[in-house]
Amino acid sequence: MNLIVAVDRSWGIGCNNTLLASIPGDMKYFKEHTMDKVVVMGRRTLESMPGRRGLPKRVNYVLTSNTDFEAERCIVVHTEDELFEALSRYDTDDVFLIGGATIYNKYYKLCDKLYVTKMDADLGADTFITDFDADPDFEIVSESEPITENGVTYRFVIYENVNKHKKPDPSV
Ligand SMILES: NC(=O)c1ccc[n+]([C@@H]2O[C@H](COP(=O)([O-])OP(=O)(O)OC[C@H]3O[C@@H](n4cnc5c(N)ncnc54)[C@H](OP(=O)(O)O)[C@@H]3O)[C@@H](O)[C@H]2O)c1
Repeated sequence: MNLIVAVDRSWGIGCNNTLLASIPGDMKYFKEHTMDKVVVMGRRTLESMPGRRGLPKRVNYVLTSNTDFEAERCIVVHTEDELFEALSRYDTDDVFLIGGATIYNKYYKLCDKLYVTKMDADLGADTFITDFDADPDFEIVSESEPITENGVTYRFVIYENVNKHKKPDPSV
């Protein structure tokens, strides 16, 4: 399983249930990674999307406790167990957590790779995620050159879960 997110300098990801910045290069990157894949989001993230619809050409899973909730192009699930049971049908490399903070913070430890667009700015967020740099289970394996668009400088950073791939110590 993977995660894809754009963060500001403080690991902020959103404000008033919208994104912090509109960066065409990041939208393209997001599309390239998630197209034809399985995306998983919380109900608030779905509601922040245009038309309150799932993303086209992707299998969209939405988590909510509301059993009456329906949304176009979405498979609605109501518990963590129901979600992971459903996700077990897919190749884990094809699954992407796409937000928001409740989903990222609860499940990032289960991910193999974290695709993080780091925006070098303070963008006034009201919603934050864990600082992945402070988690020893994750290591940066690639970092792009800085790119500036719409007045925001950002880098594409990829983290790998080093804990998940650790072999058991035979001496223990
Ligand atoms: N920068 C980025 O890359 C990025 C990406 C995505 C989102 N965002 C931003 O993140 C913000 C939204 O994040 P958020 O944390 O407020 O909301 P969220 O994670 O999108 O959605 C939270 C909702 O998901 C449901 N949920 C979560 N865990 C559940 C579980 N175990 N069982 C059942 N339902 C569960 C609940 O819905 P119910 O209340 O209906 O039960 C909960 O209120 C927005 O500002 C958005 O723009 C940023």
